[in-house]
Amino acid sequence: MDYQQILDTIYEEMSYRDVRGKVASYIPELAKVDHRKFGMHIYNGEKQHFCFGDSKEKFSIQSISKVFTLSMAMRIMGESLWDRVSVEPSGDPFNSLTQLEYESGIPRNPFINAGALVICDILVDQLEDPKKELLEFVRNITGDENIDYDRSVASSEKSTGYRNVALVNYIKALGNIKCDVEDIVDFYFHQCSLAMSCKQLAQAFMIYANRGRLLESDEKILKPKSVKRINALMQTCGFYDEAGEFSFQVGLPGKSGVGGGIVAIHPEQYSVAVWSPILNKKGNSELGMKALERLTTLTGLSVF
Ligand code: DON
Repeated sequence: MDYQQILDTIYEEMSYRDVRGKVASYIPELAKVDHRKFGMHIYNGEKQHFCFGDSKEKFSIQSISKVFTLSMAMRIMGESLWDRVSVEPSGDPFNSLTQLEYESGIPRNPFINAGALVICDILVDQLEDPKKELLEFVRNITGDENIDYDRSVASSEKSTGYRNVALVNYIKALGNIKCDVEDIVDFYFHQCSLAMSCKQLAQAFMIYANRGRLLESDEKILKPKSVKRINALMQTCGFYDEAGEFSFQVGLPGKSGVGGGIVAIHPEQYSVAVWSPILNKKGNSELGMKALERLTTLTGLSVF
């Protein structure tokens, strides 16, 4: 498969001019990002790299970070994690509060904000220094020390993050949060502010395409069973109320973020990351989804 030729075709075919959405602005710092940015990177099982455009430029990974924190929580809690968070698609926007009321504070899945905040509660409760340990985890699976939080994005989200504060308070009232609300949202805003490039994301996500092992050293990071569960959740819940559409168009497990990034994996084949900050109405990168649809169409390969 000539991945570079396929990426070149995608880059020629597509432009930010063809999409109509908007860059996220509810986190003020994200509104400053240049809407013309567009990059894509594939890392395959033969340790080969293919890319185009702004693939080495860092951006705010936002909700993509929920895959990393879920992975850490699974390493700590094992299957008992599922007593605190469920595994069903929500069919609702990522920041919705409504289902919590009639589902007794158990979030539908770990990728909606409610579920990700319960995962934060677990990590804040169990780890001495969760921010430091998250950075260590991400740097290790990426094989790159040059990854950090963007503190201006974290404090920007803190200044407007009332819904997330409301979610944690509400879940706490319903008995599914142990730690201090302040500590939880501080950790959450930091995890979402992680700045990574498409190349770094594709490298980090290779563990989910490689049965939980680092491709370079064969170090075991996650059990194959955990990887099966995480990939299933990415497939069914990775795009919130657009998870069906992403499966339908692209046909790979993946995860998006409001910074305009999307990462997807083809088990045993490759991981791929794409970045274009213009979002559709559901909060997913409009050009990113189109580019991934072209990738699975041009390669003729998806998980289905
Ligand atoms: O909590 C928020 O609203 C953001 N920090 C993350 C949201 C997000 O990335 C949803 N993704 N598509």
